[in-house]
Amino acid sequence: MKNTEPAKFMTTSESFRKLLLAHFEGDAEGFRVAAREYIQEERRKNHHVVARDLERLLASYNGLSVVRGNNGLSPLPSGSRDVPKDKERDVALIEMFEPARRLTDLVLDEATRKTLERIADENRKADLLKTYGSRPANRILFCGFPGCGKTVSAEAIAGELYLPLALVRFDAVVSSYLGETAANLRKVFDFARSRPMVVLFDEFDAIGKDRASLEEHGEIKRVVNSFLQILDGFRSDTVAIAATNHQGLLDPALWRRFDEIVFFDMPCAAAIEELLRRNLRQIGVHPAVDLHILAEGLVGLSHADVERIARDAAKEMLLTEPGPVTPMALERSSARQRKRTAVANGGEKAKPDSRRVRSRKDPTK
Ligand SMILES: Nc1ncnc2c1ncn2[C@@H]1O[C@H](COP(=O)(O)OP(=O)(O)O)[C@@H](O)[C@H]1O
Ligand SMILES: [Mg+2]
Repeated sequence: MKNTEPAKFMTTSESFRKLLLAHFEGDAEGFRVAAREYIQEERRKNHHVVARDLERLLASYNGLSVVRGNNGLSPLPSGSRDVPKDKERDVALIEMFEPARRLTDLVLDEATRKTLERIADENRKADLLKTYGSRPANRILFCGFPGCGKTVSAEAIAGELYLPLALVRFDAVVSSYLGETAANLRKVFDFARSRPMVVLFDEFDAIGKDRASLEEHGEIKRVVNSFLQILDGFRSDTVAIAATNHQGLLDPALWRRFDEIVFFDMPCAAAIEELLRRNLRQIGVHPAVDLHILAEGLVGLSHADVERIARDAAKEMLLTEPGPVTPMALERSSARQRKRTAVANGGEKAKPDSRRVRSRKDPTK
């Protein structure tokens, strides 16, 4: 194609810079525009193979947003190309994400941090271990309260290992077609073995829980059995993590299949204080705020709840009187969160097995 405005061309580094900026700002549309410009630039330089490859990549991107999704993860644009799909419904069984967190970004108790660091270290040094006939712990079970960091810890382990995070979508895996669920699981594991990654079977209770209550349900039982079998023989450079909020309901047979079980507890006062501090770092804290006292009043809430309190208060400040967050703003956002938690738990105090419902509307309004 003849271009009539050569003066408007950007240099490759300029368009790359735009691409990076759009990525970091979570500007999905800007990212696509910058990517197209970049490709255009390659074509102009007669790099047709590169341009075609990038174009294919962009097309396989499927409109996935670069912005962090509901689960706070950033989709990996190149990762959606060959993920397995459910045959009947043509839905992806796995979503690929680019880890943005490291273990140091998380607030964890000492024991949990040590275990996660050891898991990362063993997998980093897998070759060394194999030389001595040993193998890293790569079949991991994460248990604990919702909002206490199971998903983000899987992301952080992927971040530590510089591997993509593959999130298995259980709603997609469990099919109503006879035999299709087991076939889907096999596809997921085949994919997980195809190259090193951290594969997260998130909220995997979808299987374990139903097995306990619907013992007679043949299909579910078959799924659990094939899951166990595949996991048992799982030898790969991939780290497989299963996460559950309902460890009490899991079949004891499941537990033995894992190399490591990690428990995620509600944060203690010191951890809450640290979470508040980190989440308010950007906006700043008014000298009249005593984060230590505030944190002690928030014991019983999850990491996610505390994070929401900090973010809510920061947002209120931005909208009303821009400046460091005040005691009043924090008090109001804490009260709103307590109400939300109460509504989500049906008026009860949080229990490990109470599934929190995240309401779309703010129940306080
Ligand atoms: N240990 C933690 N340190 C820092 N932030 C956390 C931690 N745990 C949870 N969060 C925050 O809460 C949100 C929900 O956490 P998540 O890992 O999805 O919880 P879970 O998977 O246990 O339900 C995350 O997006 C993260 O920002
Ligand atoms: Mg989770």
